[in-house]
Amino acid sequence: MVLTGAGISAESGLITFRDSDGLWEGYNVYEVATPHGWQKDQALVLDFYNMRRRNVAEAQPNAAHKALAELEKDFDVQIITQNIDDLHERGGSSNVLHLHGEIFKMRSVNDPFTTYPITGDILTGDMAPDGYQLRPHIVWFEEPVPLIEEAARIASAADIFVVIGTSLAVYPAAGLLSYAPRSIPKFIIDKSIPPITAIANLTAIEARASDGVVVLKEKLNELR
Ligand code: APR
Repeated sequence: MVLTGAGISAESGLITFRDSDGLWEGYNVYEVATPHGWQKDQALVLDFYNMRRRNVAEAQPNAAHKALAELEKDFDVQIITQNIDDLHERGGSSNVLHLHGEIFKMRSVNDPFTTYPITGDILTGDMAPDGYQLRPHIVWFEEPVPLIEEAARIASAADIFVVIGTSLAVYPAAGLLSYAPRSIPKFIIDKSIPPITAIANLTAIEARASDGVVVLKEKLNELR
């Protein structure tokens, strides 16, 4: 299992949240990524995600995304990503679970479970087939994370657990590492390893994601 965060897409030009001083591309995150922000100004929130969607469409998967796809030759790889971009999929990975939603999907404000593909913008007044306003299929702060139980099941059954490019600051995703069996090898790659306590068999690789995956591959080969 590989848990990824914004750091894996940084080298593709997509800015990470916590590296930008709480301002996300110039926006206050609480104004654009919470139910409160949505109630206050839907047009602002839609604009913000319309821009993010354009950024992602222009970005390309980097060496780290591609290396994870190549691991499928030798391993049964399940990616659990906090990222809303599709760079794992475009990098060639087959099994990707998006914990925090997907920028290329939208849904009705009235139904969190039925999603529709989207490539263009969502505007105020754009309605889902159920007659309610469309919103991006993104899990905002303070919203439940519907796929967390499935992710926890996958984490508990993992034989090897890899974490790449996440500050491990946002729960429940950050808690997944503690579901991994004690005995299995665990690796964390980050350009600045976040503080982690009491995780058995954890090897830290402090590097950019694209360099870190090269070291990871060597270490995985030693395990085979
Ligand atoms: N290579 C490796 N790691 C990197 C790189 C890089 N090139 N650039 C940044 N990082 C690391 C940072 O050191 C940090 O630890 O990536 C991590 C990014 O942390 P966050 O910005 O907090 O991103 P993430 O952990 O994915 O955020 C979790 O919070 O913003 C919300 O819902 C959003 O899914 C997101 C969640």
